[in-house]
Amino acid sequence: MALHRLLGMKIGVPAPARLDSFYREIGLEGGEGCWGGAALPGQIRICESPYRQLRELRVGCEDEADLSAIARRLDGLGVSYRHGGGALRLADPLNHWTVVVEPVEPLDVAAPPRRALNRPGERLRRGERAEVIVESRPRPPRRLGHVVVGTPEVAKTVRLFVDGLGFRVSDVVAGMAFFTRCSSDHHNLLIQPGPVPYLNHYALEHDDIDAVARAASLYVRAHTDAHVDGPGRHTIGGNVFWYMRDPSGTFFEYFTDMDAIVDDDAWQARDDWALEDSWSIWGSKDAPEVLFQPGDIEEVIAGYRKENG
Ligand SMILES: [Fe+2]
Repeated sequence: MALHRLLGMKIGVPAPARLDSFYREIGLEGGEGCWGGAALPGQIRICESPYRQLRELRVGCEDEADLSAIARRLDGLGVSYRHGGGALRLADPLNHWTVVVEPVEPLDVAAPPRRALNRPGERLRRGERAEVIVESRPRPPRRLGHVVVGTPEVAKTVRLFVDGLGFRVSDVVAGMAFFTRCSSDHHNLLIQPGPVPYLNHYALEHDDIDAVARAASLYVRAHTDAHVDGPGRHTIGGNVFWYMRDPSGTFFEYFTDMDAIVDDDAWQARDDWALEDSWSIWGSKDAPEVLFQPGDIEEVIAGYRKENG
């Protein structure tokens, strides 16, 4: 019995139509505030808000017994929620996000066609040009994989999501950034410090490094101010990454090849990662400053304070 899937998120932005155009451009499917990869429609929902923000996270569990167990744990933490109609709905009292948990079937996206690669001693592509070169269109993103949030209440937020909702901690950086998961992905929710609760970035999974790099290259060539950092491979989580900025100002990441944790007991979470060792094994040595201090953060702070007093 456990959480096993990140179902989706809802984001609020002042100009939803601009995000609709953006998601169409990068190859997601859907329309009018509802987007996703071809196999997982509707993972990303958009609503109008005075400033950009995370509004809702949706998480899948196995069955109704999971919801009852979460309810008991939330009771123990003194956090109120609504449980009924086949779901549990929590209004996060710390960050004002809504979290919805519901029983769903296990599901992963279908494996993409494998590219024939030439490696030393194993030349699988003989007499053919590379598939990434001859494919008519870049491969699209497959699914929403993780969300990264900032909050002034890191410890309490971790307690709510881990002790209350049942997320598992995969790794911790410098005692302040908590990589947590609600599936076998190394992380689905990274909780890190922020001046107010805000959405730092969301990450879309691609088939492989070629798909990440081709799609990101196309995007940053067409939107020259969108590049943030990449390509690189994270030390924590192991994923290849490329970070960009979407038209609302939120960072988004293309990623592939993240560590998968299938045996919770066998995984050894480390809580002693140093900040200077945590960003990448190749690529930029450290995260760019802007990633922790988005250019519009003052606007986000003002918007949050106006909305929440
Ligand atoms: Fe990420």
